[in-house]
Amino acid sequence: MNRRSVLAGLAGGVASMGLLAPSATAAESGGRPPRDERVEALLDKMTLAEKIGQLQLVGDENTARAALADGRLGGVFSVVGAAKLNALQRLAVEGTRLKIPLIFGLDVIHGYTTNFPIPLAQGASFDPAVAATDATVSAKEARSSGIHWTYAPMMDVTHEPRWGRIAEGSGEDPYLAAKLAVAKVRGYQGDDYGKADRVAACAKHFVAYGGAEGGRDYNTVDVSLQRLHNLYLPPFKASVEAGVATVMASFNTISGVPAHGNGYVLHDVLKGRYGFSGFVVSDYTGIQELILHGLAGDGADAAAAALPAGVDMEMVSTNYAEFAQRLLDQRRITRDQIDDAVRRILLVKFRLGLFERPYVDESGEVKAPSPAALAASRQAAGRCMVLLKNDGAVLPLAKSVGSVAVVGPLGAATYDLNGTWAGLGTGASTTPPVTVVDGIKAAAPGAAVTYTAGCTVEGTDTSGFAAAQQAARAADVTVVVVGETAAMSGEAAARSTIDLPGVQQQLVAAIKETGKPFVVVLVNGRPLTIPYLHDNAPAVLEAWAPGVQGGHAIADVLFGVVNPGGKLPVSFPRAVGQIPIYYNHENTGRPADPANKYTSKYLDLESGPLYEFGHGLSYTTFRIDTLRLSETRMPARGGRIEVSVRVANTGSRAGDEVVQLYLRDPVASIVQPVRRLRGFQRVTLAAGASTTVSFTLTPEDVGFYDNAAQFRVEPGKIEVYVGNSSAATLSSSFTVV
Ligand code: BGC
Repeated sequence: MNRRSVLAGLAGGVASMGLLAPSATAAESGGRPPRDERVEALLDKMTLAEKIGQLQLVGDENTARAALADGRLGGVFSVVGAAKLNALQRLAVEGTRLKIPLIFGLDVIHGYTTNFPIPLAQGASFDPAVAATDATVSAKEARSSGIHWTYAPMMDVTHEPRWGRIAEGSGEDPYLAAKLAVAKVRGYQGDDYGKADRVAACAKHFVAYGGAEGGRDYNTVDVSLQRLHNLYLPPFKASVEAGVATVMASFNTISGVPAHGNGYVLHDVLKGRYGFSGFVVSDYTGIQELILHGLAGDGADAAAAALPAGVDMEMVSTNYAEFAQRLLDQRRITRDQIDDAVRRILLVKFRLGLFERPYVDESGEVKAPSPAALAASRQAAGRCMVLLKNDGAVLPLAKSVGSVAVVGPLGAATYDLNGTWAGLGTGASTTPPVTVVDGIKAAAPGAAVTYTAGCTVEGTDTSGFAAAQQAARAADVTVVVVGETAAMSGEAAARSTIDLPGVQQQLVAAIKETGKPFVVVLVNGRPLTIPYLHDNAPAVLEAWAPGVQGGHAIADVLFGVVNPGGKLPVSFPRAVGQIPIYYNHENTGRPADPANKYTSKYLDLESGPLYEFGHGLSYTTFRIDTLRLSETRMPARGGRIEVSVRVANTGSRAGDEVVQLYLRDPVASIVQPVRRLRGFQRVTLAAGASTTVSFTLTPEDVGFYDNAAQFRVEPGKIEVYVGNSSAATLSSSFTVV
């Protein structure tokens, strides 16, 4: 099957709905990388075999050596260490006819040697500077060790907390995801990713991977064009505009056509409409998987679907290498398509400066976190934490506290605090994360601090509860640290329930039974269903997987050195049966009404999330008022409205508030979400201080894509809501004319 028929398949479905698919000719006219003389000169010298070689990416040293012996390899990933990478590079630069350097990739997702909080946590910071700092530190460390290219940022918007990979992105909102993705792309790449402290970024996974049915990884995604363009594509579009060097295709189907063979999303939208000039890499064996998906009958078919669709480089599987020549002879692919893919790959290699500087200086390799990097990670982790609940101001704890019992299986956890994707870069040789017990000991040196696990994360054994209760009875306050292990989120880590695993909730109940004060700290990579904690724990701090300084960062917040200011980047459901539940949903014709049976709700559950998107408390209090709009009318072309509010710290200590602006278009030709985030600003205010926060709205903020994938700005009323969560009540409106 070729790209045309794949495209026709998708377009046919759309056409039969009476809507217009983007025309192939419009898409074909764009989508070429800019002409680069160095690339053209090299391309002229290359044999077909050498060109096909550039399309191959392998994931281990032995395969790399074998492929290089034939002179047929474009890049290597998941091999770490400057000396090893230089040795491989030498084979390419000194041992092949054209001396084309290899590109070295790695999943540097939230740190190389210095692990930052997981990306979902970074979403909770509502602070692009947190993401930028992670990326800047990571790029410097990774590049110093010979890595040129990271498989980040992941920017898959998702409504699926069961999906383990929710940990890798920024949650359920496309606007927040786009802001953080752009910050990360800039942090990794700087203004020139050829520099010695930068790497090429990779926007992944293209696209709609977060829509996996049932939250089961790799699963089917069937999505309307409007939702594809309004929900899943915006972070990618923004990343392309920010100059992201590469894009990775996703494992899922999109409306029946797997991404790796989907010419509509890769060729027409990404390369055509967005004008993406870098290269598209497959995901791990993603081209080969077209066979099991049922799009291709064999490897040749798979290559014949993927290359014309727009996948330029093949990761791990070898269908391009094996079948490209034959497919050319059979005219199932064209020389132009091969040249286009090679051009894109060579262009990124030139931009990386690999032809001038193929080797890395081994003496400069960063092998362990620097004090500055550790400090940055600790600060980032503090900014990511979300105070879900704090009855009677049980938090912060006094530094003068006499004794603290740390209880719970994650209280002494090390690598679990790093969360998913903390493996390769850090290796086993680096220092493990600081535990919560050690963090508390350091924060309150005068206190007697004990640790009792009570149970394991996933086990059923409750025999440790008695000792935990005894420790709680003996202490002034107990900090219960529960949640998920690192392996419970991330790739291929879907859960069918998202309760606290094992007997951890019972452990919390056992501590409550002692009648002594206690707080709960959650370490986890996804939203959890925690109505029990909400009803029974005096305070709940969402710490996520906070990274290598986790214990210190948690203690900073527990003792009030850091006043928590993070907000949820994703709704926390009351029960797994509510999923998907997300704040930016459409209305039904019968919105939930507890007094009316025939409305959209569950018989056996209160409507709405346990904690809404944007929720997060502070040790101080804020007031947001005086909402002002500079205009009451916005011309659909060139309009602009300034929205401002006053935010005041009404409590007695300094703190951060995230002012959030949401819009609603109550009447539109494609029904619009009940709210859409279109602005946020995290501000720090001293006790009693206040400031004005302003946002600029333009037609881009009020428009949306329709089911022909056309952006529309329609006349009519737009409601504006500003506050400190998606439940904001302060409101006003304007009219688009
Ligand atoms: C994941 C990607 C990752 C790649 C390379 C795949 O399994 O889906 O996110 O970048 O492996 O490690």
